[in-house]
Amino acid sequence: MAREFSTVGVVGLGTMGAGIVEVFARNGIDVVAVEIAESALERGRATLKGSTDRAVAKGKLAEADRDALHERVHFAVGLDALHSVDLVIEAVPEHLDLKQRIFAELDRVCKPETILATNTSSLSVTEISVATSRPNQVIGIHFFNPAPVMKLVEVVRTVVTAPEVVADVEALCARLGKVDVTINDRAGFIANALLFGYLNHAVAMVESHYATREDIDAAMKLGCGLPMGPLALMDLIGLDTAYEILDTMYRRGGRDRRHAPVPLLKQMVTAGLLGRKSGRGFYTYERPGSPRVVPDATTPPATDAALADGARAITKVGIVGSGTMATGIIEVFAKAGYEVVSVTRGAEKSASVCEAVKTSLNKGVVRGKLAEADRDAALGRITWSATLDHLADVDLVVEAVVEELSVKKALFASLDEICKPGVVLATTTSSLPVIDVAMATQRPADVVGLHFFNPAPVMPLIEVVQTIRTSPETTATARAVCAALGKTGVVCGDRSGFIVNALLFPYLNDAVRMLEASYSTADDIDHAMKLGCGYPMGPFELLDVVGLDVALAIQRELYLELREPGFAPAPLLEHLVTAGYLGRKTRRGFRDHSHR
Ligand SMILES: NC(=O)c1ccc[n+]([C@@H]2O[C@H](COP(=O)([O-])OP(=O)(O)OC[C@H]3O[C@@H](n4cnc5c(N)ncnc54)[C@H](O)[C@@H]3O)[C@@H](O)[C@H]2O)c1
Repeated sequence: MAREFSTVGVVGLGTMGAGIVEVFARNGIDVVAVEIAESALERGRATLKGSTDRAVAKGKLAEADRDALHERVHFAVGLDALHSVDLVIEAVPEHLDLKQRIFAELDRVCKPETILATNTSSLSVTEISVATSRPNQVIGIHFFNPAPVMKLVEVVRTVVTAPEVVADVEALCARLGKVDVTINDRAGFIANALLFGYLNHAVAMVESHYATREDIDAAMKLGCGLPMGPLALMDLIGLDTAYEILDTMYRRGGRDRRHAPVPLLKQMVTAGLLGRKSGRGFYTYERPGSPRVVPDATTPPATDAALADGARAITKVGIVGSGTMATGIIEVFAKAGYEVVSVTRGAEKSASVCEAVKTSLNKGVVRGKLAEADRDAALGRITWSATLDHLADVDLVVEAVVEELSVKKALFASLDEICKPGVVLATTTSSLPVIDVAMATQRPADVVGLHFFNPAPVMPLIEVVQTIRTSPETTATARAVCAALGKTGVVCGDRSGFIVNALLFPYLNDAVRMLEASYSTADDIDHAMKLGCGYPMGPFELLDVVGLDVALAIQRELYLELREPGFAPAPLLEHLVTAGYLGRKTRRGFRDHSHR
């Protein structure tokens, strides 16, 4: 029989604590909610009220249930109020000495059988537990932000946590409607260990002006389907909390430089820019605590006119190549009303690309997304050719041939001879330096990267890659074209992986390392990222879809260019690729897909 928890204490009613109070009270459990001072108590009460009022307004909570929920919560200043609770969850700031002091005090105040839990994200639960005389009853219960919404709870057992305590807490998580993963005490547990290197890297991109906050966030949302971008997430977590988590992970997690907090973070914390809770972080909010972003000095102008400022007029577009990407890109431009010249290496290839474009457009018609007349008009705008000479009068060329530098350079040298002055020359490379391609021409200022995502007709994102020689007009033209295609163009520098792959693949590689170290299972790691962070797929699901060979190749490129030791491909990834386990395409990767 699992232990009955009728009253639970929560210490600290900040970003996490207030949400944790709501989780318990919503599930019929009485809560004693404790803060350090009256003012903080009031703030916690207001957060709870705001959150439950919003749930009522959205029709997710009945008014009577809200009132009953509030009646279950008793607010108090000081830990003495916790003398008769069955479980305490501590959610005070991420400082070991503070937490140890609170646990020593809880040990004195609480009943001998009370379980003492910490919501720490990165500190050692073991170190916190030894501040008490009952380390076997101390455990980590790590909720995710916002606690009432996110389904995951990481249950952290130390080497001395009693098995009954673990079982009781797991049963409690189930009662709260949460999914738990139980793991050992390691810095960052599952989700944060995989998340924070990525978040810190995104901050480094802002700090070095590699891309803007809006573009980085849009890239990860639209390119990977994440519920929020990394900088908006930093603001939600709180920059002070994020700083402490990174700092602890750096010190406890083997001094991986990727966890050393980026200097900009410290500066922002010192300046009081803590994220949503202080009303300003990477973004500016309507008021402290509000989720509503308001424009500020760095908000880019949203109008098409501003986007087109300095952009050249584009009506006729040449697309070179006959693979998956070229085919998709031809469709995208033709559907958007551009006159398209497709150039392949022969009539046969042109015929098969033409067939593929027709099939794809027909699918749109069958699904009711495209009118027959629009399909015919799109097809009518495409000219099929097998010679580059037909590109003499286009305004933009998009190159999507094989990913080999020598081939791309030769092609750009030819385009340089054939195309008229003023044409924008774009490459869709996903891993080669755009500047290498640009320097194969006499007009590097007109060369830019246009990194489409697969499948091009569906994916809403394009990375616009500017080299150190790309002119502002070329970038403006590229952005305007993205907008005219109905896509979001994000501008970034010419570095390996651009934005999306540079942020995504090291995280996937880290997940492989975590599996390799037997810290957790592929299923639990996938669960943790989906239910704790709202990712559409877990890392192993995604790796099997992307292809392990593709992931390995990208990770190698990143490692070679940045020489960051943490980017070295995980040996397990290399072995799986060598063994021919490449993911769904070979019916086996991290998982066996042969029966599906
Ligand atoms: N922010 C997140 O996204 C997140 C997610 C999961 C876990 N956590 C963890 O949760 C814990 C709390 O983080 P947060 O972001 O909610 O911090 P926060 O700064 O938003 O809130 C901390 C609260 O603790 C109160 N407090 C400070 N000293 C106290 C004391 N002696 N007694 C009672 N209350 C006290 C403060 O007044 C404040 O309201 C940290 O360990 C953090 O790592 C945070």
